[in-house]
Amino acid sequence: MNQDVIQEIRNKVDIVDVVSSYIPLTKQGKNFFGVCPFHDDTNPSMSVSREKQIFRCFSCGASGNVFHFVERYEQISFREALKLLADRAGVPLTGFSVSQKPNKYEKFYEIYDLTNKFYQNNLLSSYGKEARNYLKNRNIEEDLIKEFGIGLSTGISNQLTNLLEKRGYLISDLNAIGLSAGEKDIYQDRIMFPLWDPSGKCVAFSGRRYKNEEGSKYINTKETKIFVKGNTLYNYHRAREFVRLKKQVIVMEGFMDVIRSYTADVKNVVALMGTAMTSEQIQLLKRLSMDVVLCFDGDDAGIHATQVNGEALEKQGFRLKVVELPSPEDPDSYILKYGKESFQTLVEQAITFQDFKIKRLKLGRNLNSDEEKAAYVHDVLQETSKISDEIRREIILKNLAIEFNLSYNTLEKGLQELLTKVPKESPHVKIPSKRQAQDKYYVAPRAVLYYLMVNNDVLAYYNRQGIFFPNEVFRTFASEVTYAHQKYGISSVADFYTYLSDKKELLSLLEEIIALDLEDSVTKEVIFDYIRVMEEDYKNQEIRRLKELIKNTSDLNEKMRLSEKVRSLKIGS
Ligand code: CTP
Ligand code: MN
Repeated sequence: MNQDVIQEIRNKVDIVDVVSSYIPLTKQGKNFFGVCPFHDDTNPSMSVSREKQIFRCFSCGASGNVFHFVERYEQISFREALKLLADRAGVPLTGFSVSQKPNKYEKFYEIYDLTNKFYQNNLLSSYGKEARNYLKNRNIEEDLIKEFGIGLSTGISNQLTNLLEKRGYLISDLNAIGLSAGEKDIYQDRIMFPLWDPSGKCVAFSGRRYKNEEGSKYINTKETKIFVKGNTLYNYHRAREFVRLKKQVIVMEGFMDVIRSYTADVKNVVALMGTAMTSEQIQLLKRLSMDVVLCFDGDDAGIHATQVNGEALEKQGFRLKVVELPSPEDPDSYILKYGKESFQTLVEQAITFQDFKIKRLKLGRNLNSDEEKAAYVHDVLQETSKISDEIRREIILKNLAIEFNLSYNTLEKGLQELLTKVPKESPHVKIPSKRQAQDKYYVAPRAVLYYLMVNNDVLAYYNRQGIFFPNEVFRTFASEVTYAHQKYGISSVADFYTYLSDKKELLSLLEEIIALDLEDSVTKEVIFDYIRVMEEDYKNQEIRRLKELIKNTSDLNEKMRLSEKVRSLKIGS
């Protein structure tokens, strides 16, 4: 691949724009910060530098340029990332084709795609009349059927299996991916809802019964190589662009709820498909937004799920709101009953999770009893202490004071006690103190290599006089830098990331160098200091090596000779 094109594309896109189209970033000082999507985190430990055009996570150490970010985030190859960013930058990639590195599971995706089309056709066929009626009765119109790829499996017990077998697919594969059991179809006479992976590929189905009440309401594809229910959020790939617009994601229990929300023009929605949220689903949510609105069913189970999942999300640092539906409605039935405007209003007026919890504290308590009243007030104070917004805390206290005829000061005092007990985490990024007393021998060679990349004077000095590095990896790195500079004109850290990307050892050295977070401007004196430290380091290493040799040799003459060497090294220092 032509380095020029790679650099052109990299120069035309701004890493801050690109990263912020995936994760929310906030500016702090020179850099932008966000929650790192590459590990389990709640703090904004990823920094993105507009100046250097690189990102770096203080916590997990992930770093790189814009290509690396997109590759890792989208889980695509370098070429695919290049293509994606080229399109974004409007740079034509002539004669360039994304090399289809055949995915191990490509065949499985193909089968699912075929099956999905087959089911969709069935729904339109004469056999599909009853199913179409069912959908019509549920107010699921044609546009929704199309958008969500809804289909139908027929009552013929081996129809799909036969069809796929005729197409040359192996029964063993069909069994492995949960479409057939032996020679029989898993799904018979059910309305078929495709389920997608985060990139939008159909990887499973949920089949709903629609004729009679026999069998379970939904049958889901078993866990396979390409589908794990607990790793899936329904509608994730489609919700993404709407989440970006609305800056929040709404989470529902069922996929019917999601489909219905689309009719109310609420599209920043995903569904859990069952109620217990897994940590993988939380990770997926993080990729969408840290602002989450829980919109679960209005029955007891839904309220319980709100409580439990809300706690889990709160611990992970999400900003949480709750839509309270009247029991026993779910979003689907609510929208049908009360209309879309009413639903939109409910979403807009979602209460905070803390308020939700405070409301719930009253339930089952006899507030006529002084004891229970006091316990309630204490619980409310406890919850209030978790709120970082002072104004909201004051409002809650004032209401509480009025409701129970207590003095505001007493409540305030109680709250302050709790606040000092639990030191609130500062919402600001804690940047690890620079180079936490790092060894000077560690810093020096890495610093010089850094300036070799970004400072032309240092590069010129290296080319003219040479700089001695105390080990082989540093030396290789330095020569790669000069080579890349001469040959491709690479003189930015961001481009070195790509240039070095298939040289593992050098790449991890680059990461160490970047982690030092050095200023770009540097004086000659500082550079010479580093060089002196490296020489000292090398000398010490040599002395250690020679002393070891002296210890291990029995030849007296040799011992003398080596000792003399050690002496002259020491004098030189
Ligand atoms: N679910 C499931 N198996 C069941 C019941 C439910 O997998 N037997 C999952 C489905 O993914 C469903 C979600 O749990 O989307 C929520 O269940 P429920 O509220 O019962 O489904 P609804 O969305 O209300 O479906 P419907 O309106 O068709 O009854
Ligand atoms: Mn429901």
